[in-house]
Amino acid sequence: MKIMVTGARGLLGQEVIRALLERGHACLGVSSADFDLCDAAATRRAVSDWQPEAIIHCAGYTAVDRAESEPARCMVVNSLGTLNLVRAALRADAKLLYVSTDYVFDGSGDAPRETGAPTGPLNVYGLSKLQGEETVRALMTKFFILRTSWMFGMGGGNFVRTMLCLGSERPRVNVVCDQFGAPTYAPDLAQLICQIIESSRYGVYHGTNEGCCSFAEFANAIMQQGGRRCQVTPIPSSAYPCAARRPLNSRLSKRSLDLAGFRRLPPWEDALARYLTELKNHNKL
Ligand SMILES: NC(=O)c1ccc[n+]([C@@H]2O[C@H](COP(=O)([O-])OP(=O)(O)OC[C@H]3O[C@@H](n4cnc5c(N)ncnc54)[C@H](OP(=O)(O)O)[C@@H]3O)[C@@H](O)[C@H]2O)c1
Repeated sequence: MKIMVTGARGLLGQEVIRALLERGHACLGVSSADFDLCDAAATRRAVSDWQPEAIIHCAGYTAVDRAESEPARCMVVNSLGTLNLVRAALRADAKLLYVSTDYVFDGSGDAPRETGAPTGPLNVYGLSKLQGEETVRALMTKFFILRTSWMFGMGGGNFVRTMLCLGSERPRVNVVCDQFGAPTYAPDLAQLICQIIESSRYGVYHGTNEGCCSFAEFANAIMQQGGRRCQVTPIPSSAYPCAARRPLNSRLSKRSLDLAGFRRLPPWEDALARYLTELKNHNKL
């Protein structure tokens, strides 16, 4: 299949392109150096020139805290940028997979959120991603929305890298223990994205590595598996003020994934071990 991937230089985009090429797809990765998604004409031109059969939309404004001080920019990229891409996809009759986030939910309770559960973003980034989702749903029929959380991988900064660095520099580190969710290894998610885009089982899905932990538990596993002798001190979110509020419960139900017959991702502990091995192989551990 001819597949265009936006956000080609980003954490997830890089892995998606690698996975698509391995599966024999013709793949065009595009970044902000090729065109700005906020430029409707440039976006339309790029899509109509290449005529993809499918588009995987990994690009986005992803600086969650910075978004609170530049909400207009975040909204324009995630909402208007998505609208421009959706319009271009419709003209080319391409199906579209929109990567979204657990931050569209308000994080109340402790049950895993179903895909159809009420949304209620707590921060600007979450609201902008939700607007992107709503645009896709309102205008398209051949679409997938795939929500993920707590991503890590080789192509960018992430929580694991931050913990490994802090673990080398400090004897102890404070980490929030009341936000629960699932870490997600970008190459694992990329495999799921390939399965989904190759299908026509349109709809909304949740994709994360299996299991659930708090950030403090995740940090502990990183220190242990990464050979860091750094003590993790659990603290409540209230003791770690950030510009953006974050959901306490980011557990995402995989029911729709199961019903559609897609394979779930491996457990997050296993994903973390594979990531640390990859870092080691690249002398980055
Ligand atoms: N990382 C996470 O923990 C996480 C969690 C849940 C959901 N997500 C979602 O997953 C997707 C991928 O995330 P990621 O972590 O891979 O993001 P990322 O590393 O920040 O990459 C996003 C890419 O979007 C591109 N981009 C930004 N503005 C653009 C514009 N105006 N025009 C064209 N391209 C633009 C950037 O391209 P250039 O580099 O070329 O400027 C960047 O490489 C995003 O939609 C994000 O919302 C991520």
